[in-house]
Amino acid sequence: MHPMVNIAVRAARAAGSVIVRYLDRLDHLTVENKGRNDFVSEVDRMAEAAIIQVLRKAYPDHGILAEESGADHRGDWLWVIDPLDGTTNYLHGFPQFAVSIAAQHRGVTEAAVVYDPLRQELFTARRGGGALLDGRRIRVSQHRHLQDCLVGTGFPFRQPYHLDAYLGMFRDLLAGCTDLRRAGAAALDLAYVASGRLDGFWEIGLKPWDMAAGALLIQEAGGMVADFSGGDDYLDTGNIVGAHPRICRALLDTLRPHLTETLRR
Ligand code: IPD
Ligand code: CA
Ligand code: CA
Repeated sequence: MHPMVNIAVRAARAAGSVIVRYLDRLDHLTVENKGRNDFVSEVDRMAEAAIIQVLRKAYPDHGILAEESGADHRGDWLWVIDPLDGTTNYLHGFPQFAVSIAAQHRGVTEAAVVYDPLRQELFTARRGGGALLDGRRIRVSQHRHLQDCLVGTGFPFRQPYHLDAYLGMFRDLLAGCTDLRRAGAAALDLAYVASGRLDGFWEIGLKPWDMAAGALLIQEAGGMVADFSGGDDYLDTGNIVGAHPRICRALLDTLRPHLTETLRR
Protein backbone atom coordinates (compact mmCIF):
# COMPACT_ATOMS: atom_id res chain seq x y z
CA MET A 1 0.00 0.00 0.00
CA HIS A 2 1.19 3.53 -0.76
CA PRO A 3 2.73 5.00 2.45
CA MET A 4 0.31 7.95 2.69
CA VAL A 5 -2.71 5.71 2.15
CA ASN A 6 -1.28 3.37 4.76
CA ILE A 7 -1.00 6.17 7.34
CA ALA A 8 -4.48 7.46 6.47
CA VAL A 9 -5.88 3.95 6.98
CA ARG A 10 -4.17 3.71 10.36
CA ALA A 11 -5.64 7.09 11.35
CA ALA A 12 -9.12 6.15 10.08
CA ARG A 13 -9.10 2.88 12.00
CA ALA A 14 -8.05 4.71 15.18
CA ALA A 15 -11.02 7.08 14.75
CA GLY A 16 -13.29 4.14 13.93
CA SER A 17 -12.52 2.42 17.20
CA VAL A 18 -13.38 5.59 19.16
CA ILE A 19 -16.67 5.88 17.22
CA VAL A 20 -17.68 2.26 17.78
CA ARG A 21 -16.62 2.27 21.44
CA TYR A 22 -19.12 5.02 22.28
CA LEU A 23 -22.01 3.58 20.27
CA ASP A 24 -23.60 1.92 23.29
CA ARG A 25 -23.23 5.12 25.36
CA LEU A 26 -24.99 7.54 23.03
CA ASP A 27 -27.41 8.69 25.73
CA HIS A 28 -24.50 9.92 27.86
CA LEU A 29 -22.69 11.95 25.20
CA THR A 30 -22.39 15.70 25.50
CA VAL A 31 -23.74 17.19 22.29
CA GLU A 32 -23.34 20.82 21.24
CA ASN A 33 -25.14 22.68 18.50
CA LYS A 34 -22.63 24.37 16.13
CA GLY A 35 -25.34 25.93 14.02
CA ARG A 36 -28.70 25.14 12.46
CA ASN A 37 -29.12 21.33 12.63
CA ASP A 38 -25.36 21.02 13.04
CA PHE A 39 -24.29 18.95 16.02
CA VAL A 40 -20.93 17.95 17.40
CA SER A 41 -20.31 15.43 20.13
CA GLU A 42 -17.25 14.57 22.14
CA VAL A 43 -16.94 11.49 19.90
CA ASP A 44 -16.40 13.73 16.83
CA ARG A 45 -13.67 15.56 18.76
CA MET A 46 -12.00 12.44 20.16
CA ALA A 47 -12.06 10.73 16.76
CA GLU A 48 -10.50 13.82 15.19
CA ALA A 49 -7.79 13.94 17.86
CA ALA A 50 -6.98 10.27 17.22
CA ILE A 51 -6.59 10.95 13.49
CA ILE A 52 -4.44 14.04 14.00
CA GLN A 53 -2.18 12.20 16.41
CA VAL A 54 -1.40 9.51 13.82
CA LEU A 55 -0.92 12.01 10.98
CA ARG A 56 1.24 14.43 12.98
CA LYS A 57 3.53 11.62 14.08
CA ALA A 58 4.08 10.44 10.50
CA TYR A 59 4.04 13.84 8.76
CA PRO A 60 4.89 16.67 11.19
CA ASP A 61 5.47 19.11 8.28
CA HIS A 62 2.03 18.66 6.71
CA GLY A 63 -0.92 20.97 7.17
CA ILE A 64 -4.31 19.87 8.48
CA LEU A 65 -7.85 21.00 7.71
CA ALA A 66 -10.16 19.21 10.11
CA GLU A 67 -13.89 19.78 10.58
CA GLU A 68 -13.83 20.27 14.34
CA SER A 69 -10.44 21.89 14.96
CA GLY A 70 -10.06 23.98 11.80
CA ALA A 71 -7.08 24.73 9.57
CA ASP A 72 -3.36 24.62 10.30
CA HIS A 73 -1.53 25.15 7.00
CA ARG A 74 2.07 23.95 6.72
CA GLY A 75 3.98 23.47 3.44
CA ASP A 76 2.47 21.95 0.28
CA TRP A 77 0.55 19.08 1.82
CA LEU A 78 -2.84 19.32 3.46
CA TRP A 79 -4.80 16.54 5.17
CA VAL A 80 -8.54 17.12 4.88
CA ILE A 81 -10.41 15.32 7.64
CA ASP A 82 -14.00 14.54 8.56
CA PRO A 83 -13.61 12.45 11.72
CA LEU A 84 -17.28 11.39 11.75
CA ASP A 85 -19.34 11.96 8.64
CA GLY A 86 -22.98 11.37 9.48
CA THR A 87 -23.03 12.74 13.03
CA THR A 88 -26.83 13.06 13.03
CA ASN A 89 -27.13 9.39 12.07
CA TYR A 90 -24.60 8.44 14.72
CA LEU A 91 -26.33 10.35 17.50
CA HIS A 92 -29.60 8.61 16.62
CA GLY A 93 -27.98 5.18 16.41
CA PHE A 94 -28.82 5.07 12.68
CA PRO A 95 -26.07 2.83 11.32
CA GLN A 96 -24.66 4.87 8.45
CA PHE A 97 -21.57 6.97 9.16
CA ALA A 98 -17.89 7.01 8.25
CA VAL A 99 -14.45 8.52 8.69
CA SER A 100 -13.11 10.49 5.72
CA ILE A 101 -9.46 11.45 5.21
CA ALA A 102 -7.82 12.93 2.10
CA ALA A 103 -4.26 14.11 1.44
CA GLN A 104 -3.90 17.05 -0.95
CA HIS A 105 -0.71 18.32 -2.55
CA ARG A 106 -1.06 21.98 -3.59
CA GLY A 107 -4.81 21.56 -3.75
CA VAL A 108 -4.82 18.28 -5.70
CA THR A 109 -6.11 15.23 -3.85
CA GLU A 110 -3.50 12.49 -3.99
CA ALA A 111 -4.74 9.93 -1.47
CA ALA A 112 -8.13 9.10 0.00
CA VAL A 113 -9.64 6.87 2.65
CA VAL A 114 -13.28 6.46 3.62
CA TYR A 115 -13.82 3.97 6.43
CA ASP A 116 -17.14 2.56 7.62
CA PRO A 117 -16.36 1.36 11.15
CA LEU A 118 -19.57 -0.65 11.57
CA ARG A 119 -19.23 -2.75 8.43
CA GLN A 120 -15.46 -2.42 8.66
CA GLU A 121 -15.35 -1.49 5.00
CA LEU A 122 -12.30 0.39 3.82
CA PHE A 123 -12.43 2.44 0.61
CA THR A 124 -9.02 3.68 -0.53
CA ALA A 125 -7.60 5.49 -3.54
CA ARG A 126 -4.38 6.99 -4.74
CA ARG A 127 -4.27 9.38 -7.69
CA GLY A 128 -3.39 7.29 -10.74
CA GLY A 129 -3.51 4.08 -8.71
CA GLY A 130 -7.21 3.15 -8.87
CA ALA A 131 -9.81 2.81 -6.14
CA LEU A 132 -10.17 -0.19 -3.86
CA LEU A 133 -12.69 -1.62 -1.41
CA ASP A 134 -10.93 -3.81 1.12
CA GLY A 135 -8.03 -4.19 -1.28
CA ARG A 136 -10.15 -5.12 -4.32
CA ARG A 137 -10.49 -2.88 -7.35
CA ILE A 138 -13.83 -1.04 -7.62
CA ARG A 139 -15.50 0.63 -10.62
CA VAL A 140 -18.43 2.99 -10.97
CA SER A 141 -21.56 1.36 -12.37
CA GLN A 142 -21.92 1.17 -16.14
CA HIS A 143 -25.61 1.92 -16.64
CA ARG A 144 -26.39 3.76 -19.85
CA HIS A 145 -29.65 5.44 -18.91
CA LEU A 146 -30.72 7.55 -15.97
CA GLN A 147 -33.96 5.57 -15.71
CA ASP A 148 -31.91 2.50 -14.64
CA CYS A 149 -30.06 4.41 -11.93
CA LEU A 150 -30.32 4.44 -8.14
CA VAL A 151 -29.17 7.93 -7.23
CA GLY A 152 -28.04 9.19 -3.82
CA THR A 153 -28.52 12.70 -2.53
CA GLY A 154 -28.35 14.85 0.58
CA PHE A 155 -31.02 17.32 1.66
CA PRO A 156 -30.13 20.99 2.21
CA PHE A 157 -31.33 20.66 5.82
CA ARG A 158 -29.03 23.45 7.01
CA GLN A 159 -29.73 25.78 4.06
CA PRO A 160 -33.49 26.37 3.80
CA TYR A 161 -32.83 29.08 1.16
CA HIS A 162 -31.87 26.28 -1.28
CA LEU A 163 -34.98 24.23 -0.59
CA ASP A 164 -37.09 25.38 -3.54
CA ALA A 165 -34.27 24.78 -6.03
CA TYR A 166 -33.54 21.44 -4.39
CA LEU A 167 -37.16 20.28 -4.49
CA GLY A 168 -37.29 21.05 -8.22
CA MET A 169 -34.17 18.90 -8.73
CA PHE A 170 -35.64 16.19 -6.53
CA ARG A 171 -38.94 16.10 -8.42
CA ASP A 172 -37.28 15.79 -11.84
CA LEU A 173 -34.75 13.20 -10.72
CA LEU A 174 -37.31 11.12 -8.88
CA ALA A 175 -39.31 11.06 -12.11
CA GLY A 176 -36.19 10.38 -14.22
CA CYS A 177 -34.37 7.59 -12.40
CA THR A 178 -35.19 4.27 -10.69
CA ASP A 179 -35.25 5.72 -7.16
CA LEU A 180 -33.42 8.10 -4.84
CA ARG A 181 -31.64 7.48 -1.52
CA ARG A 182 -30.74 9.89 1.31
CA ALA A 183 -28.54 7.85 3.62
CA GLY A 184 -27.05 10.77 5.63
CA ALA A 185 -23.27 10.46 5.25
CA ALA A 186 -21.99 12.18 2.12
CA ALA A 187 -18.48 10.70 2.23
CA LEU A 188 -19.97 7.21 2.29
CA ASP A 189 -22.47 8.10 -0.46
CA LEU A 190 -19.55 9.09 -2.69
CA ALA A 191 -17.71 5.86 -1.80
CA TYR A 192 -20.87 3.97 -2.75
CA VAL A 193 -20.87 5.69 -6.16
CA ALA A 194 -17.23 4.64 -6.59
CA SER A 195 -18.14 1.03 -5.80
CA GLY A 196 -21.27 0.95 -7.99
CA ARG A 197 -23.74 0.58 -5.11
CA LEU A 198 -25.18 3.95 -6.10
CA ASP A 199 -25.19 5.00 -9.75
CA GLY A 200 -24.81 8.68 -8.97
CA PHE A 201 -24.97 11.32 -6.25
CA TRP A 202 -25.63 15.03 -5.91
CA GLU A 203 -25.77 17.43 -2.99
CA ILE A 204 -25.83 21.18 -2.39
CA GLY A 205 -23.58 22.97 0.11
CA LEU A 206 -21.07 20.35 1.26
CA LYS A 207 -17.72 21.13 2.89
CA PRO A 208 -14.31 20.03 1.56
CA TRP A 209 -13.98 17.38 4.29
CA ASP A 210 -17.27 15.77 3.19
CA MET A 211 -16.09 15.43 -0.41
CA ALA A 212 -12.31 15.41 -0.84
CA ALA A 213 -11.77 11.68 -0.25
CA GLY A 214 -14.99 10.51 -1.90
CA ALA A 215 -14.35 12.56 -5.04
CA LEU A 216 -10.95 10.91 -5.62
CA LEU A 217 -12.54 7.49 -5.02
CA ILE A 218 -15.06 8.18 -7.80
CA GLN A 219 -12.45 9.52 -10.23
CA GLU A 220 -10.14 6.57 -9.60
CA ALA A 221 -13.08 4.22 -10.09
CA GLY A 222 -13.61 5.62 -13.61
CA GLY A 223 -16.23 8.18 -12.70
CA MET A 224 -16.61 11.93 -13.10
CA VAL A 225 -17.07 14.51 -10.38
CA ALA A 226 -18.29 18.01 -11.17
CA ASP A 227 -19.79 21.17 -9.73
CA PHE A 228 -23.26 22.10 -10.98
CA SER A 229 -21.83 23.92 -14.01
CA GLY A 230 -19.94 20.80 -15.07
CA GLY A 231 -16.61 22.31 -13.92
CA ASP A 232 -14.28 21.06 -11.21
CA ASP A 233 -14.89 23.70 -8.53
CA TYR A 234 -16.97 21.41 -6.32
CA LEU A 235 -14.60 21.67 -3.34
CA ASP A 236 -15.02 25.46 -3.39
CA THR A 237 -18.71 25.74 -4.28
CA GLY A 238 -19.74 22.78 -2.11
CA ASN A 239 -22.12 21.64 -4.85
CA ILE A 240 -21.24 18.24 -6.23
CA VAL A 241 -22.40 15.66 -8.77
CA GLY A 242 -20.61 12.32 -9.18
CA ALA A 243 -21.24 9.29 -11.38
CA HIS A 244 -20.03 7.46 -14.49
CA PRO A 245 -19.29 10.32 -16.96
CA ARG A 246 -22.35 9.48 -19.08
CA ILE A 247 -24.70 9.50 -16.08
CA CYS A 248 -22.95 12.52 -14.55
CA ARG A 249 -23.77 14.52 -17.71
CA ALA A 250 -27.38 13.32 -17.61
CA LEU A 251 -27.62 14.37 -13.95
CA LEU A 252 -26.17 17.81 -14.77
CA ASP A 253 -28.72 18.22 -17.59
CA THR A 254 -31.55 17.44 -15.16
CA LEU A 255 -30.25 19.82 -12.46
CA ARG A 256 -29.57 22.72 -14.85
CA PRO A 257 -33.11 24.18 -15.14
CA HIS A 258 -33.24 24.46 -11.34
CA LEU A 259 -29.97 26.32 -10.78
CA THR A 260 -30.34 29.66 -9.08
CA GLU A 261 -27.66 32.32 -9.52
CA THR A 262 -25.81 31.12 -6.40
CA LEU A 263 -25.92 27.47 -7.45
CA ARG A 264 -24.69 28.22 -10.98
CA ARG A 265 -21.34 29.47 -9.70
C1 IPD B 1 -23.06 15.77 6.92
C2 IPD B 1 -23.41 14.51 6.21
C3 IPD B 1 -24.74 14.61 5.53
C4 IPD B 1 -24.79 15.78 4.58
C5 IPD B 1 -24.40 17.05 5.31
C6 IPD B 1 -23.02 16.89 5.94
P1 IPD B 1 -21.56 15.67 9.17
O1 IPD B 1 -21.78 15.69 7.55
O2 IPD B 1 -22.43 14.18 5.24
O3 IPD B 1 -25.04 13.47 4.75
O4 IPD B 1 -26.09 15.91 4.07
O5 IPD B 1 -24.39 18.10 4.37
O6 IPD B 1 -22.67 18.08 6.59
O7 IPD B 1 -21.98 17.01 9.68
O8 IPD B 1 -22.37 14.57 9.69
O9 IPD B 1 -20.09 15.44 9.24
CA1 CA C 1 -19.44 15.55 7.03
CA1 CA D 1 -18.39 15.39 10.64
